[in-house]
Amino acid sequence: MSGHLPVMLKEVLEMLAPRDGARYVDGTFGGGGYASAILEAADCRVLGIDRDPEAIARGKALVERFGGRLTLVQGEFSRMHELTRESDAKAIDGVVLDLGVSSFQFDQPSRGFSFREDGPLDMRMSLSGESAADVVNGADEHTLTQIIARYGEEKNARRISRAIIAARPVSSTAQLAAIVSNAQGPAALRLAIHPATRTFQALRIHVNDELGELERGLESALKILSPHGRLVVVSFHSLEDRMVKHFLSERSISAPRASRHAPAAPGNKPAFKLLTIRPMTPSADEVASNPRARSAKLRAGLKLAA
Ligand SMILES: C[S@@+](CC[C@H](N)C(=O)[O-])C[C@H]1O[C@@H](n2cnc3c(N)ncnc32)[C@H](O)[C@@H]1O
Repeated sequence: MSGHLPVMLKEVLEMLAPRDGARYVDGTFGGGGYASAILEAADCRVLGIDRDPEAIARGKALVERFGGRLTLVQGEFSRMHELTRESDAKAIDGVVLDLGVSSFQFDQPSRGFSFREDGPLDMRMSLSGESAADVVNGADEHTLTQIIARYGEEKNARRISRAIIAARPVSSTAQLAAIVSNAQGPAALRLAIHPATRTFQALRIHVNDELGELERGLESALKILSPHGRLVVVSFHSLEDRMVKHFLSERSISAPRASRHAPAAPGNKPAFKLLTIRPMTPSADEVASNPRARSAKLRAGLKLAA
């Protein structure tokens, strides 16, 4: 199995600016690409969080390599304020999130994220809870349509969910990809992406509650960051990027007021200075060597003193 190539690593390090003696949280440890680079850049400590037990098990070798400077914990990044308390890592100088799935997860057919090779319809990053097969075989037409339309931004959502319901039970990724492709009709074959891509994205986001995790994870990061701490987020689709953009800009000193003459809303003391006015994107060279980087967007903020 191939490893995971970290996306926009140079830019992440530039925005996080690791310092000696500092403490960082990598909320999406994955293959440990970011965590290793942070630990190599400064004599600092990293708490790596991942909801996937396989990622935590794989990371044991890195824990040994960094001799106590890396700690790993399995869990959701939405709980990072609790997880840092449990590991006694107070006053966090930087939090980094690299959203979505790793190549380890995506390229392993048994995890059920991809239709490139057939596998069980699973898609659970944490290997627990409701699977994609549970959703596809259990949801009513309205719910399934909503999931595919909202999280996949798929305009043929109703047609697709009807085709899925007519074909139940659906148990494998290849079976689902074929049902969705047929439901899309010949026009979809002219698209740049596979006709089932958006439906797979939608199911993955739903099964892992990715938007709920992101919303709570950003709030959790805000709680644990010390003054001058940095928040760096790499996202891969517009739903996530919009959420990160709003989170940072609504809490930032450069956030525009409703009117130039209006006073700043009481109680809305800015929490961040934006480090990226527009999102950073990967270089053409990176996209050429790592297609997974294609849609990446990086946004960062500097926590202000209370
Ligand atoms: C894109 S990969 C991160 C790769 C990592 N930056 C590297 O360089 O190897 C995303 C990882 O985050 C994990 N993940 C996604 N959402 C999560 C969440 N809400 N809580 C904890 N881990 C999550 C996934 O299981 C996956 O291993």
